[in-house]
Amino acid sequence: MTTKPKSTTLAVLSRLVLALALAVFLPNCSKAEDEKLTVLVTGANRGLGLEHAKQWAAAGHKVIGTARKPEEAKELKATGATVLKLDITSDADIANLAKTLKGQKIDILLNNAGYMNRELNRESLQRCFDINTAGPLLLAEALKPNLKLSKQPKIVNVSSGLGSISRTNGIYTAYSISKAALNMATRQLHAQYGKEGFIVIALNPGHNKTDMGGDGAPLEPKDSVKQVLKLITGLKKEQSGRFWYIDGTEVPW
Ligand SMILES: NC(=O)c1ccc[n+]([C@@H]2O[C@H](COP(=O)([O-])OP(=O)(O)OC[C@H]3O[C@@H](n4cnc5c(N)ncnc54)[C@H](OP(=O)(O)O)[C@@H]3O)[C@@H](O)[C@H]2O)c1
Repeated sequence: MTTKPKSTTLAVLSRLVLALALAVFLPNCSKAEDEKLTVLVTGANRGLGLEHAKQWAAAGHKVIGTARKPEEAKELKATGATVLKLDITSDADIANLAKTLKGQKIDILLNNAGYMNRELNRESLQRCFDINTAGPLLLAEALKPNLKLSKQPKIVNVSSGLGSISRTNGIYTAYSISKAALNMATRQLHAQYGKEGFIVIALNPGHNKTDMGGDGAPLEPKDSVKQVLKLITGLKKEQSGRFWYIDGTEVPW
């Protein structure tokens, strides 16, 4: 009777272990690839938008970050995001962005770019409306074909507690009006796109330490955005068309 040399037995054993490891890990790898989302964040060069780009990328998702001046968006580029030009007040920029992204799936549109001013005059009212209301709505329309390629398209309109009509305390009039109008745009999009499976929400990101929120704000962008990632990834259809705070509590209109 002949016995197999030890080295042959070892080789067979190691092949078996390798096959077993591949059987266990390969399906998980393809699952991870399946779960990779494409997130488009506007105004991603600084503030909350930049923090979103960092955290979605760190969580393994693909980020498309827009900026008015992409050539200056160094921190955004460093996150590994694809950086594209967008001034949300420019129809030409919106059309060019849609053209560049034609045929590409977008899972989450994060309408984050925003603008605040303290003055109350025709110009300040129009500028707030243009950036905070018209821009996000028209961008959602332009990117709808991309969102329709997603298994679960989501539109997150970054609003503000100041956009809550029932809670208003009479400050930042132009800004507050434009965010209340964005909330209506959210309801409109929900009513129109909800039938096609979209989830559309308005989000109050809380008062954060950014150029807009100021140094005295109570929240750090990294903490606020961390909660928002959890909220967005876990959104259910019945949450669509509503106004949410970062911790998942509902904000009154
Ligand atoms: N921070 C807060 O406490 C707070 C509270 C409630 C709601 N929010 C909302 O959260 C969002 C992000 O705020 P933030 O604090 O990060 O503000 P931020 O630091 O002032 O950053 C604003 C971002 O919006 C971009 N932006 C402004 N005008 C634009 C335009 N015409 N086209 C495209 N992008 C434009 C800016 O780009 P540039 O660098 O080119 O100017 C920048 O990337 C905003 O919608 C804001 O209203 C913030």
